[in-house]
Amino acid sequence: SKTRFLTGITTTGTPHLGNYVGAIRPAIRASVDDSTESFFFLADYHALIKCTEPERVHESTLQIAATWLACGLDPEKVVFYRQSDVPEIPELAWLLTCMTAKGLMNRAHAYKAAVDDNLANQEDADFGVNMGLFSYPILMAADILMFNAHKVPVGRDQIQHVEMARDIAGRFNHHYGERFVLPEATVDDNVAVLQGLDGRKMSKSYGNTIPLFLPQKKLQKHINKIKTNLLEPGEPKDPDTSTVFQIWQAFATPDQVNEMRQSFADGIAWGEAKKQLFALIDAELAEGRDRYEQLLAKPAEVEAVLQAGAEKARASSKQFITQLRAAVGIRPLG
Ligand code: TYM
Repeated sequence: SKTRFLTGITTTGTPHLGNYVGAIRPAIRASVDDSTESFFFLADYHALIKCTEPERVHESTLQIAATWLACGLDPEKVVFYRQSDVPEIPELAWLLTCMTAKGLMNRAHAYKAAVDDNLANQEDADFGVNMGLFSYPILMAADILMFNAHKVPVGRDQIQHVEMARDIAGRFNHHYGERFVLPEATVDDNVAVLQGLDGRKMSKSYGNTIPLFLPQKKLQKHINKIKTNLLEPGEPKDPDTSTVFQIWQAFATPDQVNEMRQSFADGIAWGEAKKQLFALIDAELAEGRDRYEQLLAKPAEVEAVLQAGAEKARASSKQFITQLRAAVGIRPLG
């Protein structure tokens, strides 16, 4: 039987190069292989954890859907849907919530980071931490386990969440019999965490992203903003501490990586290195950018694709949730 891939993106903003190299590109590459089947989705319930701007969630949903399609996702081959169109997912999240040790959630990085932030600001540790953030990994486990995915292509920041899904699945299986596949994260090692403009992890919450499908001129402007040290042209530069080089690696062939390494040793000017980086990224994204722009102008078409995907997803989730309910003792009398 086929290896099943599943991954999702939270609808809180415009997709960026980190989402692309960490999740979208590897997921789409895997989906083409006939020995695989894929489930890709828009995590809109996850968005509510950190975003209370309805328009932003709504607009982001269209942008992320258009991005997947523009990057070559084939909705005939892939089950492509919106989380909120599959009500069996939040239902499963409840079943899993009752199988999850509170202590496990205390260890989640995203929750701990929020707590640490509050402590640093001399606030109450749990100040402003909503229950959505606390149990976020359980909803994510429901996403993955609902469709019994084997492999979850993600950036390194999500590995812990996939491991938690695996733990929760194991505990459920232990109590109620073998119901779930134990999922595994797959991480593309070249680009495990893409850096943003300021050298930290590229992230919507740091405001340091390079959006994926910027118009050419704006893409160039963003690349010019990548932080570099003050070394002058002619002075050798260290590729391994450079964001420009790190992003180059995520897009270049191995030969191109070696050539750029040499150029750094030879003291390439930052302006020149960025010009080359722009050309490299632009060449990979130009075609998708046109399709993206066209799709943004046709939201009803995108919606129709998502509805067709939800129907396919629910064909399996409705059946499975009935089995799971029965397994925990929730079934018709008589
Ligand atoms: P999200 O929306 O934060 O990010 C989507 C995907 O992009 C990856 N990513 C990165 N990869 C490399 N470098 C970066 N700088 C970078 N920034 C983001 C993330 O690792 C992720 O793979 N909880 C998830 C969404 C989700 C999900 C799921 C994923 C919900 N349910 C089930 C997989 C399976 C999230 O917030 O991703």
